[in-house]
Amino acid sequence: MHSYRVAVIGAGYVGLTTAACLASLGHRVTCGEVDAAKVERLRRADVRILEPGLPELVAEGLAAGRLDFVVGAAAATADAEVVFLCVPTPMGEGGTADLTAVEAVLTEVRDHLPAGCVLVNKSTVPVGTAERTAALLGRDDVAVVSNPEFLREGSGVRDFLNPDRIVVGSRSRAAAERVSALYAGLGAPTVLTDAASAEMVKYAANCFLAMKLSYVNSLAELCERLGADIGDVTEGMGRDNRIGPSFLDPGPGWGGSCLPKDTNALMRVAEAAGFDFGILRSVIAANDRQADRVADKVAEAVGGSVAGVRIGLLGLTFKAGTNDLRDSPALAVAGVLHARGADLVGYDPGLLALDQPEAHDLLAAAGILTLVDDVLDVAKDAAALVVLTEWPEFRGLDWHRVADALAGRVVVDGRNHLDPDALAKAGIAWRGLGHRHAQQSLTAPA
Ligand code: UGA
Repeated sequence: MHSYRVAVIGAGYVGLTTAACLASLGHRVTCGEVDAAKVERLRRADVRILEPGLPELVAEGLAAGRLDFVVGAAAATADAEVVFLCVPTPMGEGGTADLTAVEAVLTEVRDHLPAGCVLVNKSTVPVGTAERTAALLGRDDVAVVSNPEFLREGSGVRDFLNPDRIVVGSRSRAAAERVSALYAGLGAPTVLTDAASAEMVKYAANCFLAMKLSYVNSLAELCERLGADIGDVTEGMGRDNRIGPSFLDPGPGWGGSCLPKDTNALMRVAEAAGFDFGILRSVIAANDRQADRVADKVAEAVGGSVAGVRIGLLGLTFKAGTNDLRDSPALAVAGVLHARGADLVGYDPGLLALDQPEAHDLLAAAGILTLVDDVLDVAKDAAALVVLTEWPEFRGLDWHRVADALAGRVVVDGRNHLDPDALAKAGIAWRGLGHRHAQQSLTAPA
């Protein structure tokens, strides 16, 4: 496979994973990052993102001389054949994607990009951005390509190296082919299209996933009312190949840095295009209700009101396997419980794993709970425990010791993650989402 000289702009989650993985495929990658302290750390392979395999790949790339980190975008692009833009596109005013970082990088690199290089947008950007990028660049000798990423936090390296598909869009066929050639070693099906369609694929995929989840969360509520079991229902429907078994686990809502931002952005794009995207509006509205729904379950479990009641929260990140608190449904539930007067204590294994002042600052700023670093401290004197993130270690807890620490003997399982029988043996009642046994009463300790 041909080895390309690649620049990656941005050493955030997507940029760092892209840089390290492309280096592992044999390309020579320079990653440009605006934060000088981060560059310094990365040159020592000090990775602060909780992502399996990423620190190792960064270390390998550095040692092999195929990966380097520099401060700034222009410095990274000096002799690049392909330049990836991997900068954040957060939710801006009114839900639209904020392109400030993308535009700042374009201004910085415009006069530095080598003639004949290809500029690739990996950041999630509104449909039409590739065309705008080309106009902003004003360089006929640089082709613009859209190559959306489909990486999940917590399995980004695995997703990058084992993609379901590669999507590459451009008005220049030669540029699109050069970008697909970077991934040649992966043997993934490749969709070559125009830039607008590639940009649309990203929104279409994330919004479809959100739709699946809002659907299953609504279905869980209905199952409860009708005495059906969501676990059996999703197994029954998920075995239909047209539906598939993944993304069918009910939870406290979908969150993270992507799904909420992208559903809102596509809503705004549709509005601007004069299209009433009613389905997507309902998908978002159903998710907005989910935190209240879980909080109602908690209130019910402790006798009707959480005011002045101590509640222990298990899991605070937006899903298991990450230390990311951005748009975390767990924090949305915590916010509702706090507003109703609950006294909250929280524990999350992802927040113990690394030194991460940002996460602790975010929690302190929210001021809604006390963070503890021992699972038994979260149970201590709590009227109920609430599972909000599906960390595997929660399943293996010593429920007898937890029961001894608890004041009340009930766990609200907002992820349907625990084994109700293991809890029952310790004398703890389990209440899940959408289960026939959601209201399972306390059984005598074995
Ligand atoms: C998501 C997409 O899955 C990636 O394909 C995409 O590349 C990425 O956004 C992005 O745009 O960069 P991620 O944000 O890491 O990835 O999170 P997901 O694994 O998709 O989970 C999103 C939310 O749905 C989480 O809150 C998770 O707990 C929830 N979820 C997921 C459920 O409640 N149930 C499920 O069955 C699956």
